[in-house]
Amino acid sequence: MAAFLSESSEAAAADHYGLAGHPVAHSWSPFIHGMFAKATGQNLVYRLFDIEPREFRREALRLFTGGLRGLNITLPHKQAAAELVNELTPRAARAQAVNTIAFYEDTTLLGDNTDGVGLIADLEGNLGLDLANKRILILGAGGAVRGVLEPLLERPLRALVIANRTPGRAKVLAAEFADLGPVEGCGFEDTEGPPYDLIINGTSASLDGEMPPMPPGLVSEATVCYDMAYGRGETAFTRWAHSQRAARAEKGWGMLVEQAAAAFSLWRGVRPDTKPVLEALSHFR
Ligand code: ATR
Repeated sequence: MAAFLSESSEAAAADHYGLAGHPVAHSWSPFIHGMFAKATGQNLVYRLFDIEPREFRREALRLFTGGLRGLNITLPHKQAAAELVNELTPRAARAQAVNTIAFYEDTTLLGDNTDGVGLIADLEGNLGLDLANKRILILGAGGAVRGVLEPLLERPLRALVIANRTPGRAKVLAAEFADLGPVEGCGFEDTEGPPYDLIINGTSASLDGEMPPMPPGLVSEATVCYDMAYGRGETAFTRWAHSQRAARAEKGWGMLVEQAAAAFSLWRGVRPDTKPVLEALSHFR
């Protein structure tokens, strides 16, 4: 803990956690983990670490040797994090992407992926969607999408199409998960109707205020659109969803809170209640 001892005595006594990504300044994770810690009586400090891709491995190891007990990982480091750790939970091994690392006293660095359970908890639990027999389109083929494919394919879906800017990445990813269910990959322009029941945006295009160029005919008045990104007001994706007259356009606030709760449980052995945090965030989003 030496690296943190210059801070207040309360912070020095606390266990330290954080989020590694690039960028991270927009993140609500410190607020969320702060609320979880208060509600469960855990003494912890949660901070943001903006780390450039080429520095990720060195910086993450430096943080852990400096006393950090755990890290959440966001874009673009989720796949690099899977390579960094020396143990993976089965779901992280399947995804080959990690959004949560726990550092144990025996020096084990355990990589987990709570994105999938977070997304499902939001879709089914918070938003009340029934995924059985549905056709789902997911945009993107990076670390964020890798984490959610297994739990989606555990549902009896009719079809799961992965569309990506680089079509080859979507096809490789679909082939990797083809043993779990009806999944295929394509480029954005090759994506065909009929309209999907659910369209999930897992690209990082929203960060630049961009919407992938999707062909017409993918959305009906029954389609739910879900942006794994979150922010205040509309994203480029939710704006597109409204322009296509989708039934609903949701942002990933619920997934953010639910994946954080699963990470918190791994770190602290206590499951926090997500409802008060969702309620608090509803005033900001
Ligand atoms: P993450 O962990 O968020 O998935 P990532 O692994 O870097 O981050 O993946 C980013 C995803 O967003 C990829 O699917 C990427 O498409 P490519 O595979 O073609 O690179 C997609 N992406 C990023 N910027 C985009 C943009 N402006 N338009 C469309 N897709 C974009």
